[in-house]
Amino acid sequence: MSKSARAAKPPDLDVKKLALIGAGKLGEGLLSGLLSSQLLPASRVVSTVAHQPRADYLTEKYGIKAHTDNHQAVAGADLVLICLKPQQVKGFLHEVKKELRKLALIGAGKLGEGLLSGLLSSQLLPASRVVSTVAHQPRADYLTEKYGIKAHTDNHQAVAGADLVLICLKPQQVKGFLHEVKKELRKDALIISAAASVTTALIERELGHPARVVRAMPNTPCLIRHGMIALARGKHATDEDISLAKEIFASMGRTVVVDEKHMDAITGLLPWCCIPASTPPN
Ligand SMILES: NC(=O)c1ccc[n+]([C@@H]2O[C@H](COP(=O)([O-])OP(=O)(O)OC[C@H]3O[C@@H](n4cnc5c(N)ncnc54)[C@H](OP(=O)(O)O)[C@@H]3O)[C@@H](O)[C@H]2O)c1
Repeated sequence: MSKSARAAKPPDLDVKKLALIGAGKLGEGLLSGLLSSQLLPASRVVSTVAHQPRADYLTEKYGIKAHTDNHQAVAGADLVLICLKPQQVKGFLHEVKKELRKLALIGAGKLGEGLLSGLLSSQLLPASRVVSTVAHQPRADYLTEKYGIKAHTDNHQAVAGADLVLICLKPQQVKGFLHEVKKELRKDALIISAAASVTTALIERELGHPARVVRAMPNTPCLIRHGMIALARGKHATDEDISLAKEIFASMGRTVVVDEKHMDAITGLLPWCCIPASTPPN
């Protein structure tokens, strides 16, 4: 390698926001190295520590944003560097679980877009943590433009790393989708499917591992956020999964948890129960 090539500035890291959690001895060393190697400008780095005076020192010395709020730091970050003591890591991860969630919404058609819009306006998730797929690129472009989310037509890319997968495809497409993404799908991802008549057992069977699955059946007034949504849990879904599904669908209407054996009857009835669960806004 020539001298000039060695001295050349390294390319910028393709990172919009780096959250450095815990800027003690190791963290500060890393921060200083990162900034002096010009891999990232100070304006794209935020760091947290336990005490405000140390945060003020970091801001003063490195020109970065520093404070004591881990939620704020990881929100919207596309790279999180954890430099905490080992015994603090679990607590931190639990604390920022919501902000670190990645949602893949598969099939943002009528129902999917309704859910997306409800989810974002209820601030359950920031747009930066949502990726959605559709069949046609112009529709993906529309979603990106309107909601500021990442949207495209690549299901593999969408589910990679996602811990929450929301399936809003037509029922006959679900099996093919599961087969397509089986390899990329995280084993610990929660799958929520709104596809009518697709059972949790079918999804578990197609994936071939004890996947946590919740089945949802919304009715049409959900599209104006005044609907009813029946939820049923699969064999491996937990109470926490049901609570999360309730939170997600709460943006569309009232939720009720039922035994899955009643889902087919509900699926048959709900389309006729099109009276909004409450009066829609003017
Ligand atoms: N609509 C409701 O009120 C309602 C109520 C209860 C349950 N559901 C259930 O929700 C599901 C969706 O219904 P919908 O009314 O929203 O249908 P829809 O408007 O036709 O939406 C389907 C979406 O899937 C996308 N898509 C097709 N193939 C895909 C693939 N291989 N990968 C990723 N995306 C793909 C389509 O993309 P393009 O837009 O690019 O074509 C479209 O955006 C159905 O299973 C239905 O049973 C709907």
